[in-house]
Amino acid sequence: MARSGKVTVIGAGYYGSTTAQRLAEYDIFDEVVLTDVVDGKAEGLALDLNQSRPIEGFETTITGQTTGPDGEGYEAIAGSDIVVITAGLPRKPGMSRMDLIETNAKIMRAVAENVARHAPDAVVINVANPLDEMTALAQIVTGFDKSRIIGQAGMLDTARFTNNVAEKLGVPVSSVTTLTLGSHGDTMVPVPSACAVDGKPLTELLSADEIEELVTRTRNGGAEVVALLKTGSAYYAPSAAAARMAKAVAEDSGEVMPVCAWVDGEYGIAGVYLGVQAEIGREGIRKVVETDLTDSELAGLKEAAEAVRAKQADVKDL
Ligand code: NAI
Ligand code: 2OP
Repeated sequence: MARSGKVTVIGAGYYGSTTAQRLAEYDIFDEVVLTDVVDGKAEGLALDLNQSRPIEGFETTITGQTTGPDGEGYEAIAGSDIVVITAGLPRKPGMSRMDLIETNAKIMRAVAENVARHAPDAVVINVANPLDEMTALAQIVTGFDKSRIIGQAGMLDTARFTNNVAEKLGVPVSSVTTLTLGSHGDTMVPVPSACAVDGKPLTELLSADEIEELVTRTRNGGAEVVALLKTGSAYYAPSAAAARMAKAVAEDSGEVMPVCAWVDGEYGIAGVYLGVQAEIGREGIRKVVETDLTDSELAGLKEAAEAVRAKQADVKDL
């Protein structure tokens, strides 16, 4: 099997380590690099992952690297085609994603400066929260073309919506299509008009109240997991989402995925990172793909854009 390329995951916490595992198990990359500021953490996890290779049957090598406050160790990411940024604090019960903004902005600045220096040609996938704002900050600090900075949220929120519908109707997840747009937060916009089960519109299978219940559960999907875990936030579904996005970039697949992308006129919205559907390829976002929305869904998307626009304008000062 032909393997090629190098992908780096910054932050070896729950999200980062599970993402590195998924990327390595795809067995399509030459190398997966995992970094963290905690001494030995990335190296230890990389060794453990490498030792799983004979059992799982993959050859991609995983390199762990501790990085220092002045960028020591970042040479390890040189030549990366893709960098996934997971460094940042997760939520605790009762916290909103926005409560993380100041701390995670400092981490993002430090990380993004080093990414720009050592992996100047990479496509960056950010997952750190608050998602839309940290994605905007990653672009500001790296100075990369906006199409090369993508945020991960829509894949996860859409997967949660699909799972909720499948559970409610007792059908396989593979028979369900759903969609969420907007922000990864209170102004998330689940799109019932784009939802179907085996091609049948969701609106013909469930009442408006039942759909609204599923929409609310989807919007609170992250908080539901945080409340159960009591410490830390979700990582299995989030890492699946980020890894699939990285795979789409590596394979130049042209898949259309719900992601956080720079919007420049689509839906009558411009100048903001927002959750939309986009075609993903080697260069990052090839194009934003518009979908038909009802009037209220479009109004929700515009409201989300204005909410995140105000916050994204502030992040440059953090
Ligand atoms: P975690 O606490 O398990 O891991 C964070 C890791 O980042 C730690 O190992 C920490 O040492 C490391 N770190 C901190 N500063 C760093 C720096 N400057 N350079 C490199 N590494 C650094 O947290 P977890 O669960 O991995 O979550 C990571 C982030 O992902 C959080 O901000 C969380 O809110 C976000 N998240 C986003 C989701 C999304 O859908 N976009 C879903 C789930 C989590
Ligand atoms: C999630 O949605 C906390 O953003 C994280 O699980």
